[in-house]
Amino acid sequence: MSNYHEVVLRTKTKEYPIIVGRGVINDLPKFMKGFRNSKKCAVITNNVVRPLYGEFVQKLLSNAGYEAYVIEVPNGEDCKDLRVVERVYDELISYRFDRYSTVIALGGGSTGDLAGFIAATYMRGINYIQVPTTLLAQVDAAIGGKAAINHPKGKNLIGVFYHPQLVLVDVDLLKTHDFRDLRSGLAEIIKYGIIMDSEFFKYVVSNKAKLLDVSSEELLKAVLKCCEFKASIVSKDEFDREGIRAILNFGHTVGHAVETYSNFTLRHGEAVSIGMCYEAKVSAAMGFINKSVADEVCRSLSDLGLPTRIEESAEVSKLLDLMRRDKKSVGGKIAMVLLKDIGSSFLMDSVPEEVVLEVMRSW
Ligand code: GLY
Repeated sequence: MSNYHEVVLRTKTKEYPIIVGRGVINDLPKFMKGFRNSKKCAVITNNVVRPLYGEFVQKLLSNAGYEAYVIEVPNGEDCKDLRVVERVYDELISYRFDRYSTVIALGGGSTGDLAGFIAATYMRGINYIQVPTTLLAQVDAAIGGKAAINHPKGKNLIGVFYHPQLVLVDVDLLKTHDFRDLRSGLAEIIKYGIIMDSEFFKYVVSNKAKLLDVSSEELLKAVLKCCEFKASIVSKDEFDREGIRAILNFGHTVGHAVETYSNFTLRHGEAVSIGMCYEAKVSAAMGFINKSVADEVCRSLSDLGLPTRIEESAEVSKLLDLMRRDKKSVGGKIAMVLLKDIGSSFLMDSVPEEVVLEVMRSW
């Protein structure tokens, strides 16, 4: 077995390992020995990841005695569509998948969302494993059991909480990662420091160059730390109802709005970076932090090479409307995660619109 670290995610009903290391993908069949398994597996992957790792994983599994299939879906959000879901169900039925068969999500956050949704609903729930191949999915999306598909009226509107049996985080898989996506993933990494751990924030700031080197020890360490942060948050607030898991949404009220407004030309992490900067400024405008703290947050993001500003021509009224429709919003009020300091945050469910407007206009 390769060297690896194990983080255990424990909720009231579930306990499973998050394995973090390099080359751990090769040990996937060994890690699967621990759960009841009918030897049929489907690797759900997308058209970008399939040529890189799809057949490789299929072979690993068939060499270990599994009847393994690859099911290809579109890359990105396009796969989170009921028509794709139906097609994947059709394939699983044609392969005679039963209640002890296994779905393996091999890809980024969208592939994981789709595969989790399929695993949760096929025969009321079958085994599933997350093998995230993007930095963003490794440090956030693949962990914690959120799975959803989109509706024409909105992102992630149809979904479930359904945990995998195992999350296998192989940092070496990032060697084929597009550089812009890798940098975008750093936004979610530094976010953990900003919302809950000022020491980790300093670590990211002082190792920024090394974190963009996939073979560095610093990146492995940061990914592991983020998996620990995510596991600890999910274990305290599995169903996102206590305002604890909600802090992971720092930067996402403004971020989702600018991401949608850009017609998804911005990467998710880039949009979240812009969002974190604005939401830090809203925190300052509301008197929760000093302006210098907000400036430090924005500077750290731009030092990572991430964007921090909404394009000048953006229509503020449209952005505000998108924020009112954010999933955290209740009764049309703008909800936002705000900062009390670097390393400390909370969810505010009703941020005055005039403050958001003022920050957007003056920045
Ligand atoms: N990605 C946010 C969450 O898992 O709650």
